[in-house]
Amino acid sequence: GAQPPNEFVALDHLLHDMRLYKSAAEVKVMREAARISAQAHVRAMQACRAGLHEFSLEAELDYEFRKGGAKMPAYGSIVAAGRNSCILHYQQNDALLKDGDLVLIDAGCEIDCYASDITRTFPVSGKYSAEQKAIYQLVLASQEAAFAEIAPNKHWNQAHEATVRVITAGLVKLGLLQGNVDELIASEAYKAFYMHRAGHWLGMDVHDVGEYKVGGEWRVLEVGMALTVEPGIYIAPDNQNVAKKWRGIGVRIEDDVVVTKTGCEILTGGVPKTVADIEALMAAARTQAA
Ligand code: GLY
Ligand code: MN
Ligand code: MN
Repeated sequence: GAQPPNEFVALDHLLHDMRLYKSAAEVKVMREAARISAQAHVRAMQACRAGLHEFSLEAELDYEFRKGGAKMPAYGSIVAAGRNSCILHYQQNDALLKDGDLVLIDAGCEIDCYASDITRTFPVSGKYSAEQKAIYQLVLASQEAAFAEIAPNKHWNQAHEATVRVITAGLVKLGLLQGNVDELIASEAYKAFYMHRAGHWLGMDVHDVGEYKVGGEWRVLEVGMALTVEPGIYIAPDNQNVAKKWRGIGVRIEDDVVVTKTGCEILTGGVPKTVADIEALMAAARTQAA
């Protein structure tokens, strides 16, 4: 006479929406995950030397994650030197670090089930070349433009649109794209260099649950939502349309933010980001070691 259940209700949508809004206690845990991950990136920059391997820097990250109490990375760490930086989900992490190359590290730890997700791109030698610096500063400017578009009542896509505009205009200025900026945006010409979106929800998963659109419209940002901001430019090593000096440069800069009443709080500010600050950190580490 037992009765089987006769109604099934999918709770995913309700649960996902609850996960999208972080409480003060959740933000506190996310700040801690971000702090430890930032420290790990600093350690990798300090340890970086030509002749080491990508996995040598991965080991520095893992050391700092564990030392901070993290049980595991939030996802497979990406340590991509030279042209490997143009491979978006590169995880081999076994190539040699060479002077003259950049190294892109995308890594973050998980604390109490909450993820962090940071990317920094820095020169193996400790000094950016002119071309690396030009691309780096363009990505950084696009990220700054995105931060300005993250606040309550702005919609999800505004930050992405801001990165697309800054990157497209900058690529034209550098001679990597030719034409009118509005037309290049409309034709998505920038996608040859910037082929992913500017971010994703962040929380208990690195690419966390939650709808990006509601009723066909981009979601409006609200206090407590956590997301990444991660523009990038990747110039394929075999791109015949650009001068040789640009080929193989890949740069991404990624930070984690939480929407606040007035804008957003950057959780991952503990790792340097300007060219000057990164070069200074790396120079100081080399002086100390000498
Ligand atoms: N680490 C994966 C991502 O940045 O989305
Ligand atoms: Mn990310
Ligand atoms: Mn990432």
